[in-house]
Amino acid sequence: MEVLERVWEVVGDAFSGLARGIERGITSLFGSSNARYLRKLQPKLDAINAREPFCQQLTDAELREQTAKFRKRLAAGETLDDLLVEAFAVCREAGRRKLGMRHYDVQLLGGMVLHHGMIAEMVTGEGKTLVATAPAYLNALEGKGVHVVTVNDYLARRDMEWMGPLYMALGLTVGAIQHDLGTFERQRAYSCDITYGTNNEFGFDYLRDNMRPAARGDDRYPKEQQQVQGPLHYAIIDEVDNILIDEARTPLIISGPAHDDVSRYRRADQIARQLKRDVHFQVNEKEHTCNLTDEGVRRAEELAGVESFYTAGHMEWPHLIDNALKAHYLYKRDVNYVVNDAGEVVIVDEFTGRLMPGRNWSDGLHQAVEAKEGVRIKEEYQTLATITLQNFFKLYKKICGMTGTAMTEANEFWKIYKLDVIAIPTNRPLIRTNHPDVIYRTCSRLSSRCWGSSSRSRTTPSRSSRTASVKKSGSRSRGSATSSDAAGRSSWGRSRSRKASGSPRCSRAAG
Ligand SMILES: Nc1ncnc2c1ncn2[C@@H]1O[C@H](COP(=O)(O)OP(=O)(O)OP(=O)(O)O)[C@@H](O)[C@H]1O
Ligand SMILES: [Mg+2]
Repeated sequence: MEVLERVWEVVGDAFSGLARGIERGITSLFGSSNARYLRKLQPKLDAINAREPFCQQLTDAELREQTAKFRKRLAAGETLDDLLVEAFAVCREAGRRKLGMRHYDVQLLGGMVLHHGMIAEMVTGEGKTLVATAPAYLNALEGKGVHVVTVNDYLARRDMEWMGPLYMALGLTVGAIQHDLGTFERQRAYSCDITYGTNNEFGFDYLRDNMRPAARGDDRYPKEQQQVQGPLHYAIIDEVDNILIDEARTPLIISGPAHDDVSRYRRADQIARQLKRDVHFQVNEKEHTCNLTDEGVRRAEELAGVESFYTAGHMEWPHLIDNALKAHYLYKRDVNYVVNDAGEVVIVDEFTGRLMPGRNWSDGLHQAVEAKEGVRIKEEYQTLATITLQNFFKLYKKICGMTGTAMTEANEFWKIYKLDVIAIPTNRPLIRTNHPDVIYRTCSRLSSRCWGSSSRSRTTPSRSSRTASVKKSGSRSRGSATSSDAAGRSSWGRSRSRKASGSPRCSRAAG
């Protein structure tokens, strides 16, 4: 057995060596095409630099007037590419005057990459916040809105306030979406030329808009029933690897009460309590499932007082009983959940051990646990609208992104989004020594290997496999959990949502 394991280990190591070699090959290939691409941008950069003296002698008012002139030229048939050099030069000058930061040449290169709908890999601290201003300004000239996407509310507001003076000096309006904004404030922020916000807020606003009866500006309807977002024209995504790869498959969900009969969870719980393990049902701890045996089905039918679970009107019983069994045999109080003083079942995050108030297991599992604990059973929520971040960002006419680490995911960016990655050199030579990552195995990993897991468990999972494992842990069989926020603010449309009298809630499937 040990010999076999050793052979498996050697083969595994050989394959991972080969994979690393191929990856290095691909990276070096990208590197060379990278240099060619940057060389192609050089003439434009030279032209922007040559335009600097002209911009510097403009008064503040003249600088602002440039925007109106560019817009006129666009209307007359010129393209954004035709205006790039002049617009970037104007933007750089506004940055110098209003922020005390003059875009470095490499930052303008990064900006061009973003304008071309690609990913700019720029080392941390290279000033990506400022980089985004040039393509944001250029693309905002079209008047269809530019969204700058960050990972949290704090950064969205900070970046908007930080870069705001630059945009305002050029006569543009800028806003930021924050979690606690109401409908009117959102409409105002989205009607700005440039809107900062988080991926979640942009995604949820899209979902809520789909449930609203009126388009933005359709004054036949009250303002709160009008959509807020407007067209999905151009998005610049900061920390793009985080948003488009790590979080991409997590669904955003808006749900509303299902108006179901909660007494059926108690009946299922009573039935489950009378069934005998290994006679009437089997528990599979590894797969996290409980299944009724044939004998169990017959006994459960008897206890439920129905002739057969497979006749109309009774088909939900097996699912209800499965959930009740799971609640009893797989979900442990004070491990997987706690019951708080208010008599609510609160999930414990399996990775962090933190309490997750407001999160619910889906598919009736939460109600089954509530029935087991004898606490008040809350109505199940049904999904009213859902989208993954991946699908949401594909709706934009053009997307681009920036991050400190994108080359390692270049293949995935291309395969999923058709986004190329360009590595931008640093402004000054990098003097930091980058040590390779050191990865330690935990004791539990070590012992799990002794039980026969393969040597592959020793290697760090790739980003995609990490995503896969996260996805798996939230999969249906384990009862995926959803978390709610206080977003019941959205006005109700005439769509399905009307049926539900309670407020909708926004959630993200738990990872
Ligand atoms: N052209 C510039 N001139 C002067 N200072 C600059 C310039 N560009 C950026 N900076 C400064 O560099 C610092 C880092 O900027 P920023 O936070 O935008 O970097 P970043 O690339 O987004 O970093 P991270 O990857 O950590 O998010 C800031 O303090 C900013 O003021
Ligand atoms: Mg940053």
